[in-house]
Amino acid sequence: MSKMEVKTSLLDNMIGVGDMVLLEPLSEETFIDNLQKRFSHNEIYTYIGSVVISMNPYRSLPIYTADKVEEYRNRNFYELSPHIYALSDEAYRSLRDQDKDQCILITGESGAGKTEASKLVMSYVAAVCGKGHEVNKVKEQLLQSNPVLEAFGNAKTVRNDNSSRFGKYMDIEFDFKGDPLGGVISNYLLEKSRVVKQPRGERNFHIFYQLLSGASEDMLKKLKLGRDFSKYNYLSLDSATVNGLDDAANFRTVRNAMQIVGFLEDEVQSVLELVAAVLKLGNIEFKPESRANGFDESRVKDKNDLKEMCELLGIEQLVLERAFSFRTVEAKMEKVSTTLNVAQAYYARDALAKNLYSRMFSWLVNRINESIKAKTKARKKVMGVLDIYGFEIFEDNSFEQFIINYCNEKLQQIFIELTLREEQEEYVREGIEWTNIEYFNNAIICELIENNQNGILAMLDEECLRPGTVTDETFLDKLNTVCAEHQHFESRLSKNSKFLTDHSLPHNCFRIQHYAGKVLYQVEGFVDKNNDLLYRDLSQAMYKANHSLMKLLFPEGNPAKVNLKRPPTAGFQFKASVGTLMRNLQTKNPNYIRCIKPNDKKAAQVFSESLVSHQVRYLGLMENVRVRRAGYAFRQAYEPCLERYKMLCKQTWPHWKDLARKGVEVLLKDLKVPEEEFSYGRSKIFIRNPRTLFFLEERRRQCLEDLATLIQKIYRGWKRRTHFLLLKKSQVVVAAWYRRYAQQQKYQKIKSSTIVVQSFIRGWKARKILRELKYQKRCKEAVTTIAAYWHGMQARRELKRLKEEARRKHAVAVIWAYWLGLKVRREYRKFFRANAGKKIYDFTIQKIMQKYFFDLKNTMPSMSPIDKSWPARPFLFLEGTHQQLRSIFHLWRCKQYRDQFTEEKKAIYEEKLEASKLFKDKKALYPSSVGQPFKGDYLDINKNPKYQKLNIVMDEKLLLADVINKVNRANGKGASRIFLLTKKNFVLADQKTGQVKASIPLPDLSSVSVSSHNDGFFALKLKQGTASAAKGDFLLSSDRLIEIITKLHRTGAASSDREPLSVDISDEFLVQFKQDKVCVKFVQGGPKNGNSVTCKRKNNRLLEVSVPPP
Ligand SMILES: Nc1ncnc2c1ncn2[C@@H]1O[C@H](COP(=O)(O)OP(=O)(O)OP(=O)(O)O)[C@@H](O)[C@H]1O
Ligand SMILES: [Mg+2]
Repeated sequence: MSKMEVKTSLLDNMIGVGDMVLLEPLSEETFIDNLQKRFSHNEIYTYIGSVVISMNPYRSLPIYTADKVEEYRNRNFYELSPHIYALSDEAYRSLRDQDKDQCILITGESGAGKTEASKLVMSYVAAVCGKGHEVNKVKEQLLQSNPVLEAFGNAKTVRNDNSSRFGKYMDIEFDFKGDPLGGVISNYLLEKSRVVKQPRGERNFHIFYQLLSGASEDMLKKLKLGRDFSKYNYLSLDSATVNGLDDAANFRTVRNAMQIVGFLEDEVQSVLELVAAVLKLGNIEFKPESRANGFDESRVKDKNDLKEMCELLGIEQLVLERAFSFRTVEAKMEKVSTTLNVAQAYYARDALAKNLYSRMFSWLVNRINESIKAKTKARKKVMGVLDIYGFEIFEDNSFEQFIINYCNEKLQQIFIELTLREEQEEYVREGIEWTNIEYFNNAIICELIENNQNGILAMLDEECLRPGTVTDETFLDKLNTVCAEHQHFESRLSKNSKFLTDHSLPHNCFRIQHYAGKVLYQVEGFVDKNNDLLYRDLSQAMYKANHSLMKLLFPEGNPAKVNLKRPPTAGFQFKASVGTLMRNLQTKNPNYIRCIKPNDKKAAQVFSESLVSHQVRYLGLMENVRVRRAGYAFRQAYEPCLERYKMLCKQTWPHWKDLARKGVEVLLKDLKVPEEEFSYGRSKIFIRNPRTLFFLEERRRQCLEDLATLIQKIYRGWKRRTHFLLLKKSQVVVAAWYRRYAQQQKYQKIKSSTIVVQSFIRGWKARKILRELKYQKRCKEAVTTIAAYWHGMQARRELKRLKEEARRKHAVAVIWAYWLGLKVRREYRKFFRANAGKKIYDFTIQKIMQKYFFDLKNTMPSMSPIDKSWPARPFLFLEGTHQQLRSIFHLWRCKQYRDQFTEEKKAIYEEKLEASKLFKDKKALYPSSVGQPFKGDYLDINKNPKYQKLNIVMDEKLLLADVINKVNRANGKGASRIFLLTKKNFVLADQKTGQVKASIPLPDLSSVSVSSHNDGFFALKLKQGTASAAKGDFLLSSDRLIEIITKLHRTGAASSDREPLSVDISDEFLVQFKQDKVCVKFVQGGPKNGNSVTCKRKNNRLLEVSVPPP
């Protein structure tokens, strides 16, 4: 064990004392007080050395969780506060690691929590042992055997709602690794009398109620049962349902458990059939029937139940019926049949029911064993768990109590033996001198009961087997003689007549001073119960049944194996099995759990002192403590001991380098513990008195306080220091960062200032340079300017000079000329007259004029009147002449041009001229007409035979013939017409046929209206009142509008009797169509209309002509 492992101890945070061995002073009172104190703090477990005392808390405590399992797993027994898990762990580990078979003996009275304890042990072991598919299956089967056995073997009693009515010992088998392999269950003496009768306030075995509440309707029908408990005589009614017990749910649990354990479906069915048969059996009733011999013979009253039961078990009804009326006694190969009276029949019925049920129970145990038995032959390690009924003292104690209490005596015996033996062995192992221990040994009581010669059981057997009349009284008489001298046997009539006057002892009773107290037994029923007889007729009837289980359950009914020997008595069988159990237990290492019931009310947190002290007494717990303390109260291995107390001595604190034992020696010497108070074993220190231990503990506690203060001090110092260091470090970091930050800020400031200063300086420098440059530039410019001026001046000066020079030269030349002239004149004056100057002048002018005309003659423009060119004027003084010459020349040229015209051409030009007068700058269509000659006749009317008809109409000379459009006033569309004009009238004729449509004398025409646009529309308006006017005005259109109207105008102008035809140019004019006047309006169309002219009638009064834009 390493030193570090022992950190905690049972002694830490103890409530009361965790181990009764340490109780100081030790008395029953302090013992009970300690239990109570712990119980009130929910500490339900307390140790006596290695024995665990368990108080039933009657409520679920949170101390069985998976966490708790882990907490106790692989921990030293005394390391943690007392717990059943500590014991389980210890047992499991020594089984696994030290190869020691273990047994866990759980004792205590009914309701103290034995069965729960056994389940806790099993579940703990299951939780900590190996894992894996196979292993888990085995575990599950072992755990699930509990609900099955509890359903069939437990019942509600006044003491316990789930009281085990059988003793159970289960061997769990493990392989070398500690993995479970399987198990074997032994059962002891089921309380079968419960099947037929239950005391007040108690119930029959759970399975009956579970079956009736939980089975499906279908199943109940198959089993011929009804749900109502009250229909069955064997079920007591006072407490058919129990608070907190859900029979129906439990039934499902049981069936599930049976399936897990490995029961086949028809096995389950068979078992349930037996259960049903027992219920049916209870309902069979008998009535007396008088016989000739004067005796009453019993007869089955109502055969229906009998019939159903027989059907369930496959029994022939008549056979069973007969078995309830007759009894065959075989003696010396002779068969004698006697009748049964009603009481005997009932006795037989109940005996059958009890046997049927208890044998079925034994079969169940065997069947479970078959399932859970280990599949390997290898050597197994075994852990046995014994959950046996506790010591019982009732008001009326009978054979069952006697047997149970005997069993408990034996257990106490083995407990004492093993505890002492172990104690002794430890002393020997540790090399400590053995001091004799005084204690009460109950072997003597066991002797009284089981001695083969004169033990009570032997006496009972003897009575049962004795020929002649045997009654319970004869049995008591026998006891009175044989056991009279025994110290623990008391009877009113015993031979030594000690108790003759003891009125607490009735005549039909005997009393035994058990180790746990005196118990008064009524002898009534001892003989019967010990005999446990079932009439042979019944067992044979059962054997014959056609049911899978019956032959197994009633083998003695096999007629082929008639055995005249009596079967062993119940007492004998029990003694034998207890003997086997004891021998078995003695080979194992025992672990004890002693259960105590805190109160009789099944209530949580109620502690009944009297009840507990009674149990403490009969469980012999005080003895237990004394035995344990007889030698040394406390022992502990050296290492953990030193580890725990080393702080009490300067040499051992804080580290002891040498052997632990030496350390402990030094320690104890230093503490001045008296020598007789302790002994040094090989591996453990043994402390005689708890006082000494508590002294050590107290010193340790004080020392721990000091140490705690010290540790606290150091820790606080350390903490402060680390905190300070941390602060300091942080401060340095903060300061560093701050400085950095401040420097950065400062730097930034300097930098930005620098930049400002720099920029100013740069600016200043730049400006200076700029100024310099500008100055230089200006200088350059000035220089340039000056130079330019200078050069200019130079040039001008030069020019001036040159001009001057030229002028001078000219002047010189002029002067020279003048001088020459003068000279010449002077010279030639004598040759010329005085007026010669004027003549020269005239001559010069003449010469110039001559040259001018000659030049003009050569540069004359063409004769075309439209040629506008004219040569430039050579002399300013000729300006007037030059212009006049030009106009003269132009007029002359025009005259020349006109002079070559013929008459016809002249007329044409006159017409053109007239057209120009009428339309120039007034109508947009005009310019396009200028270039076109006015042909007049465009149709060649005379030559075209088609128009011959028209010729006839034309008596006058034809001025114009053309095809034009007559605009339809209804829709604005045009229709082609031939337009003919003569000097007197104009004619409109059909273009195709030449048919004359209208012939209008020209005088009837009042005016013509046209638009200013580039269109050919024109309206010929007639004078009001004329004959032609009746037809209304004409709205016509023609591309040759200019020519037509010009010609119309000319005819008017030509005749002197007529006013000239007026031509109105307007973009909106009225046209008189027969009755109504219609306005013709010209609008300029958009570009999308293209170049076409369209006319549309807008309404009755408006024709709109859209013309292309100019
Ligand atoms: N550790 C426990 N925690 C909670 N409840 C418990 C505990 N032990 C026992 N009980 C309660 O006490 C009841 C009786 O316990 P149990 O059946 O184990 O008694 P027993 O000693 O086996 O009695 P009998 O001798 O009659 O079989 C249980 O049904 C349960 O309600
Ligand atoms: Mg029990």
